[in-house]
Amino acid sequence: MTKSERTDNRKLDEIRPMKMKIGVIKRADGSAEVEFGDTKVVAAVYGPRQIHPRHQERPDRSVLRCRYNMLPFSVSDRKRPGYDRRSTELGKVITESLQPALFLEEFPKTAIDIDMEITQADAGTRTTAINAASLALAHAGIPMRDLVTSVAAGRANKKLLLDMTKEEEDAPDAVDLPVAMMPRTGKITLLQMDGIVSPEDIEKIVDIAEIGCMKIYEMQKKALLEKYSS
Ligand code: CDP
Repeated sequence: MTKSERTDNRKLDEIRPMKMKIGVIKRADGSAEVEFGDTKVVAAVYGPRQIHPRHQERPDRSVLRCRYNMLPFSVSDRKRPGYDRRSTELGKVITESLQPALFLEEFPKTAIDIDMEITQADAGTRTTAINAASLALAHAGIPMRDLVTSVAAGRANKKLLLDMTKEEEDAPDAVDLPVAMMPRTGKITLLQMDGIVSPEDIEKIVDIAEIGCMKIYEMQKKALLEKYSS
Protein backbone atom coordinates (compact mmCIF):
# COMPACT_ATOMS: atom_id res chain seq x y z
CA MET A 1 0.00 0.00 0.00
CA THR A 2 1.42 3.37 -0.91
CA LYS A 3 -0.32 6.50 -2.24
CA SER A 4 -3.81 7.32 -1.10
CA GLU A 5 -6.73 9.63 -1.62
CA ARG A 6 -7.28 10.03 2.11
CA THR A 7 -8.54 13.37 3.28
CA ASP A 8 -5.42 13.95 5.39
CA ASN A 9 -3.05 12.60 2.69
CA ARG A 10 -2.00 9.62 4.75
CA LYS A 11 -1.07 6.32 3.13
CA LEU A 12 -3.80 3.68 3.40
CA ASP A 13 -1.81 1.79 6.04
CA GLU A 14 -0.49 4.84 7.89
CA ILE A 15 -1.39 5.67 11.49
CA ARG A 16 -2.21 9.28 12.39
CA PRO A 17 0.58 11.21 14.13
CA MET A 18 0.90 9.72 17.63
CA LYS A 19 1.92 11.41 20.86
CA MET A 20 2.43 9.54 24.14
CA LYS A 21 3.15 11.20 27.45
CA ILE A 22 3.58 9.29 30.70
CA GLY A 23 2.96 10.68 34.19
CA VAL A 24 0.51 13.48 33.42
CA ILE A 25 -1.70 13.17 36.53
CA LYS A 26 0.07 13.86 39.79
CA ARG A 27 -2.53 12.32 42.10
CA ALA A 28 -2.90 8.99 40.29
CA ASP A 29 -0.67 5.95 40.83
CA GLY A 30 -0.02 5.86 37.09
CA SER A 31 -1.13 7.97 34.15
CA ALA A 32 -0.65 8.66 30.47
CA GLU A 33 -1.97 10.88 27.72
CA VAL A 34 -2.13 9.50 24.20
CA GLU A 35 -3.05 11.27 20.96
CA PHE A 36 -3.81 9.77 17.57
CA GLY A 37 -4.31 12.76 15.29
CA ASP A 38 -7.21 14.73 16.76
CA THR A 39 -8.23 11.97 19.19
CA LYS A 40 -6.87 12.62 22.65
CA VAL A 41 -7.27 10.52 25.82
CA VAL A 42 -6.00 10.79 29.40
CA ALA A 43 -5.88 7.61 31.48
CA ALA A 44 -5.31 7.44 35.25
CA VAL A 45 -4.71 4.23 37.21
CA TYR A 46 -5.35 3.70 40.93
CA GLY A 47 -4.42 0.62 42.89
CA PRO A 48 -4.25 -2.17 43.64
CA ARG A 49 -6.28 -0.68 46.50
CA GLN A 50 -9.10 -1.56 48.88
CA ILE A 51 -12.30 -2.16 46.95
CA HIS A 52 -15.52 -0.20 47.47
CA PRO A 53 -18.33 -1.22 47.49
CA ARG A 54 -17.00 -4.17 49.51
CA HIS A 55 -19.44 -6.68 47.99
CA GLN A 56 -17.42 -6.47 44.75
CA GLU A 57 -14.40 -7.93 46.56
CA ARG A 58 -13.06 -11.25 45.20
CA PRO A 59 -11.16 -13.52 47.64
CA ASP A 60 -8.82 -14.86 44.95
CA ARG A 61 -8.07 -11.86 42.71
CA SER A 62 -8.11 -8.16 42.09
CA VAL A 63 -11.05 -6.64 40.21
CA LEU A 64 -10.18 -4.48 37.22
CA ARG A 65 -12.67 -1.63 36.73
CA CYS A 66 -12.33 0.60 33.66
CA ARG A 67 -14.39 3.76 33.24
CA TYR A 68 -14.56 5.39 29.81
CA ASN A 69 -15.91 8.93 29.71
CA MET A 70 -16.33 11.24 26.75
CA LEU A 71 -16.10 14.86 27.91
CA PRO A 72 -18.78 17.30 26.69
CA PHE A 73 -16.30 19.38 24.66
CA SER A 74 -14.64 16.35 23.02
CA VAL A 75 -17.10 16.21 20.12
CA SER A 76 -18.53 18.87 17.79
CA ASP A 77 -22.10 18.57 19.14
CA ARG A 78 -21.56 19.13 22.86
CA LYS A 79 -22.09 15.76 24.56
CA ARG A 80 -24.34 15.53 27.60
CA PRO A 81 -21.99 15.12 30.59
CA GLY A 82 -21.74 11.81 32.40
CA TYR A 83 -21.84 8.10 31.71
CA ASP A 84 -24.35 6.59 29.27
CA ARG A 85 -25.01 3.21 27.64
CA ARG A 86 -22.18 3.67 25.14
CA SER A 87 -19.63 4.52 27.84
CA THR A 88 -20.78 1.58 29.98
CA GLU A 89 -20.27 -0.78 27.04
CA LEU A 90 -16.88 0.70 26.23
CA GLY A 91 -15.77 0.44 29.88
CA LYS A 92 -16.65 -3.26 29.69
CA VAL A 93 -14.86 -4.01 26.42
CA ILE A 94 -11.79 -2.06 27.53
CA THR A 95 -11.73 -4.02 30.82
CA GLU A 96 -11.86 -7.27 28.85
CA SER A 97 -9.13 -6.15 26.48
CA LEU A 98 -6.70 -5.22 29.30
CA GLN A 99 -7.49 -8.04 31.75
CA PRO A 100 -5.47 -10.80 30.00
CA ALA A 101 -2.30 -8.71 30.41
CA LEU A 102 -2.60 -8.48 34.20
CA PHE A 103 -1.78 -10.89 37.04
CA LEU A 104 -4.99 -10.14 38.95
CA GLU A 105 -4.60 -13.25 41.09
CA GLU A 106 -1.50 -11.67 42.67
CA PHE A 107 -3.64 -9.01 44.37
CA PRO A 108 -6.66 -10.68 46.01
CA LYS A 109 -9.40 -8.56 47.65
CA THR A 110 -8.35 -5.36 45.84
CA ALA A 111 -9.43 -3.19 42.94
CA ILE A 112 -7.42 -1.73 40.09
CA ASP A 113 -9.32 1.27 38.76
CA ILE A 114 -8.68 3.00 35.45
CA ASP A 115 -10.35 6.27 34.52
CA MET A 116 -10.17 7.21 30.85
CA GLU A 117 -11.25 10.70 29.86
CA ILE A 118 -11.74 11.47 26.17
CA THR A 119 -10.76 15.10 25.83
CA GLN A 120 -10.94 15.17 22.01
CA ALA A 121 -12.72 12.67 19.74
CA ASP A 122 -12.13 12.06 16.05
CA ALA A 123 -12.83 8.29 15.92
CA GLY A 124 -10.73 5.58 17.55
CA THR A 125 -11.39 6.71 21.09
CA ARG A 126 -11.67 3.17 22.52
CA THR A 127 -8.39 2.09 20.89
CA THR A 128 -6.57 5.26 21.96
CA ALA A 129 -7.97 4.77 25.49
CA ILE A 130 -6.60 1.19 25.58
CA ASN A 131 -3.13 2.40 24.55
CA ALA A 132 -3.22 5.13 27.21
CA ALA A 133 -4.52 2.76 29.92
CA SER A 134 -1.84 0.23 29.11
CA LEU A 135 0.91 2.85 29.54
CA ALA A 136 -0.72 4.14 32.74
CA LEU A 137 -0.77 0.57 34.18
CA ALA A 138 2.95 0.22 33.43
CA HIS A 139 3.58 3.65 34.98
CA ALA A 140 1.70 2.54 38.12
CA GLY A 141 4.16 -0.37 38.39
CA ILE A 142 1.46 -3.00 38.02
CA PRO A 143 2.99 -6.27 36.78
CA MET A 144 1.94 -7.09 33.21
CA ARG A 145 2.50 -9.97 30.80
CA ASP A 146 2.85 -7.41 28.01
CA LEU A 147 1.60 -3.97 27.03
CA VAL A 148 -1.78 -3.99 25.30
CA THR A 149 -1.73 -2.19 21.99
CA SER A 150 -4.75 -1.15 19.99
CA VAL A 151 -5.87 0.38 16.71
CA ALA A 152 -8.83 0.06 14.36
CA ALA A 153 -8.67 -0.76 10.67
CA GLY A 154 -11.56 -0.92 8.27
CA ARG A 155 -13.02 0.09 4.95
CA ALA A 156 -14.21 3.42 3.63
CA ASN A 157 -14.91 4.51 0.05
CA LYS A 158 -14.03 0.97 -1.16
CA LYS A 159 -10.53 1.12 0.34
CA LEU A 160 -9.07 -0.81 3.25
CA LEU A 161 -7.66 1.69 5.71
CA LEU A 162 -5.74 1.81 8.98
CA ASP A 163 -6.76 4.16 11.81
CA MET A 164 -9.74 5.94 10.24
CA THR A 165 -10.82 9.47 11.12
CA LYS A 166 -14.45 10.32 11.92
CA GLU A 167 -14.82 11.73 8.40
CA GLU A 168 -13.69 8.39 6.93
CA GLU A 169 -15.93 6.45 9.32
CA ASP A 170 -18.90 8.46 8.07
CA ALA A 171 -18.50 7.06 4.48
CA PRO A 172 -21.61 5.13 3.35
CA ASP A 173 -19.70 1.83 2.99
CA ALA A 174 -17.66 2.26 6.19
CA VAL A 175 -16.65 -0.75 8.26
CA ASP A 176 -14.67 -0.35 11.45
CA LEU A 177 -12.80 -3.15 13.22
CA PRO A 178 -11.14 -2.13 16.48
CA VAL A 179 -8.41 -4.59 17.47
CA ALA A 180 -6.33 -4.85 20.65
CA MET A 181 -3.50 -7.30 21.17
CA MET A 182 -0.51 -8.27 23.26
CA PRO A 183 2.19 -8.01 20.61
CA ARG A 184 4.77 -10.28 22.28
CA THR A 185 2.54 -13.35 21.91
CA GLY A 186 0.16 -12.03 19.24
CA LYS A 187 -2.84 -12.75 21.48
CA ILE A 188 -5.84 -10.66 20.38
CA THR A 189 -7.78 -9.28 23.34
CA LEU A 190 -10.35 -7.14 21.50
CA LEU A 191 -12.00 -7.66 18.14
CA GLN A 192 -15.17 -5.76 17.31
CA MET A 193 -16.86 -4.95 14.03
CA ASP A 194 -19.25 -2.28 12.95
CA GLY A 195 -20.67 -2.79 9.40
CA ILE A 196 -20.87 -5.59 6.83
CA VAL A 197 -17.79 -7.02 5.13
CA SER A 198 -16.72 -10.24 3.36
CA PRO A 199 -14.73 -12.89 5.30
CA GLU A 200 -11.73 -12.29 2.98
CA ASP A 201 -11.75 -8.57 3.73
CA ILE A 202 -12.07 -9.24 7.46
CA GLU A 203 -8.81 -11.20 7.31
CA LYS A 204 -7.10 -8.41 5.38
CA ILE A 205 -8.41 -5.74 7.76
CA VAL A 206 -7.26 -7.66 10.86
CA ASP A 207 -3.80 -8.08 9.26
CA ILE A 208 -3.60 -4.32 8.63
CA ALA A 209 -4.59 -3.64 12.26
CA GLU A 210 -2.05 -6.15 13.60
CA ILE A 211 0.79 -4.54 11.63
CA GLY A 212 -0.42 -1.15 12.96
CA CYS A 213 -0.34 -2.52 16.52
CA MET A 214 3.33 -3.49 16.13
CA LYS A 215 4.18 0.13 15.22
CA ILE A 216 2.21 1.45 18.19
CA TYR A 217 3.95 -1.08 20.46
CA GLU A 218 7.33 0.36 19.47
CA MET A 219 6.07 3.89 20.29
CA GLN A 220 4.74 2.71 23.67
CA LYS A 221 8.05 1.09 24.58
CA LYS A 222 9.92 4.23 23.45
CA ALA A 223 7.66 6.44 25.61
CA LEU A 224 8.32 4.25 28.66
CA LEU A 225 12.06 4.15 28.02
CA GLU A 226 12.18 7.94 27.65
CA LYS A 227 10.25 8.37 30.90
CA TYR A 228 12.60 6.17 32.90
CA SER A 229 15.89 7.14 31.30
CA SER A 230 15.42 10.88 31.87
O1 CDP B 1 -14.39 6.34 19.19
P1 CDP B 1 -14.62 4.95 18.72
O2 CDP B 1 -14.27 4.80 17.25
O3 CDP B 1 -13.92 3.94 19.59
O4 CDP B 1 -16.17 4.63 18.93
P2 CDP B 1 -17.46 4.92 18.05
O5 CDP B 1 -18.63 4.68 18.96
O6 CDP B 1 -17.38 4.14 16.79
O7 CDP B 1 -17.42 6.47 17.73
C1 CDP B 1 -16.75 6.98 16.63
C2 CDP B 1 -16.62 8.46 16.74
O8 CDP B 1 -17.90 9.08 16.67
C3 CDP B 1 -16.04 8.98 18.05
O9 CDP B 1 -14.64 8.82 18.15
C4 CDP B 1 -16.44 10.43 17.96
O10 CDP B 1 -15.59 11.14 17.08
C5 CDP B 1 -17.84 10.31 17.35
N1 CDP B 1 -18.89 10.39 18.39
C6 CDP B 1 -19.53 11.60 18.57
O11 CDP B 1 -19.25 12.57 17.84
N2 CDP B 1 -20.50 11.74 19.55
C7 CDP B 1 -20.81 10.69 20.35
N3 CDP B 1 -21.75 10.84 21.30
C8 CDP B 1 -20.18 9.45 20.17
C9 CDP B 1 -19.21 9.34 19.17
